[in-house]
Amino acid sequence: MYTEKLIDHFTNPRNIGTLPNPDGYARVSSPGCGDIMELFLQIADNKIVDVKYRAFGCAAAIASSSMASEMIKGRTLEEAAGLTDEQVAAELGGLPDVKFHCAVMAASAVNAALKNYCEKHHAPVCAAL
Ligand code: FES
Repeated sequence: MYTEKLIDHFTNPRNIGTLPNPDGYARVSSPGCGDIMELFLQIADNKIVDVKYRAFGCAAAIASSSMASEMIKGRTLEEAAGLTDEQVAAELGGLPDVKFHCAVMAASAVNAALKNYCEKHHAPVCAAL
């Protein structure tokens, strides 16, 4: 059911935790199952210099959160804003159809945290979010 890559990110999640004063923050839940993800971004010089998250959910939710955090860490805001659920799922080697919403939650958290950052700042990327 799950790829080796997904199981690796579930059993050894990257970037787990919180940041005390995040520049961008989001708390999203998946409407179908009620799982929750919190995402914390530290941003400097238009780059995501640190990212942490907490996920209260299934194995695919934790793996998707871990993968999404790795995909945006060190990226510019413009690069991170382009992250999609399809990209997260593809990087995990695919997700079963019934678990695709777990990648949706992770990508949604990234975009919501960037929007939160944009509410406080006026980076060029904010106009596109
Ligand atoms: Fe809800 Fe995975 S089953 S996010």
